[in-house]
Amino acid sequence: MTNEEILSGGALGRKELITLLNSKNENKLRLFKKAAAIKKQHVRDTVFFRGLIEFSNICRKNCFYCGIRSGNTHVNRYDLSDDEILHAASFAHENNFGSVVLQSGENNSTEFIHRIENLLKAIGKLSGQKLRVTLSLGEQEKETYRRWFESGAHRYLLRIESSSPSLYKKLHPDNENHRFEKRCRCLVDLKETGYQTGTGVMIGLPFQTIGDLADDLLFMKDFDVDMVGMGPYIEHGHTPLYRFRNLLMSREERFELTLKMIAVLRILMKDINIASATALQAIDRSGREKALMVGANVIMPNITPGHYRNDYKLYQDKPCTDDQAEDFISCLKARIALSGNSVAYGEWGDSVHYLSRS
Ligand code: 5AD
Ligand code: SF4
Repeated sequence: MTNEEILSGGALGRKELITLLNSKNENKLRLFKKAAAIKKQHVRDTVFFRGLIEFSNICRKNCFYCGIRSGNTHVNRYDLSDDEILHAASFAHENNFGSVVLQSGENNSTEFIHRIENLLKAIGKLSGQKLRVTLSLGEQEKETYRRWFESGAHRYLLRIESSSPSLYKKLHPDNENHRFEKRCRCLVDLKETGYQTGTGVMIGLPFQTIGDLADDLLFMKDFDVDMVGMGPYIEHGHTPLYRFRNLLMSREERFELTLKMIAVLRILMKDINIASATALQAIDRSGREKALMVGANVIMPNITPGHYRNDYKLYQDKPCTDDQAEDFISCLKARIALSGNSVAYGEWGDSVHYLSRS
């Protein structure tokens, strides 16, 4: 099938997805246009803000791609106080963000589990239950997911990183802490617990093929996720994967491929929430806004207190623009308006997909 035939509404199997992901020039523009039209029709030209609080870079895992992996001794480890976290959440509430994301390295200690429960309750209280909380705290026991759900978290992000078990193996140490099967199990547990469940992958990894990326999209579709966040892989000097940097596409190519992944996903899953990843901004200053034009509808401004932000370096050149400053927010708003979107303030911004499936 030609690109035009595929875009005019045929079934989207692996072969068609690969064709779309390989599209160039006019075909690529046609893909972007189609994704923008579908976005407008199904989730409107509205953007939801999620205030991202990266509250600790302490992690028990050792993923080969990640700058804050436990084995990296060059990291200044930090853990925000509860007050600092609640202060950031208040900022999001006062600025009508509607929702915050609590993210950190993976920790499954009893103390940590209790701490999150208390923070969830406190955030509910300070916002009069108006602020929605998304958690991004990695793999946990189902019981933990349940406790956090009951304490007020309703969304959870757990990227599958790659849906190919063999590629997953190349990206992680071969031990009990890093099993693909466990990660899939966690996604099932999250959904069964009742969370709006989000996943995602990195794009442009060493050893990754276009076929792998098509399979990633089919994984998201088969799993029937409510939200996706995916971004380009960006190498980090103090990680094991760095030695394969000669296998990588250029950063610009990874950026373009990410935009295509977002556009194809919007066509494949019309009513889900798709986040415009911060990693896009590391390659192109207007990267996040560009993603909004081809299908994404969520932006996660970083509202981690400034002096810690520099230490949450998952990858090199991570932008540490101060998304929290008042003038930054009005600037971001203006740039979003330029992309033809408007910010929905004070709305939870639940995934339309989740609302219709539940
Ligand atoms: N480049 C891009 N994204 C990365 N992540 C971790 N390391 C990198 C990197 N080097 C992503 C992973 C993880 C999320 C929190 O950050 O997908 O799930
Ligand atoms: Fe830890 Fe997540 Fe980084 Fe893996 S990707 S080392 S789990 S912070």
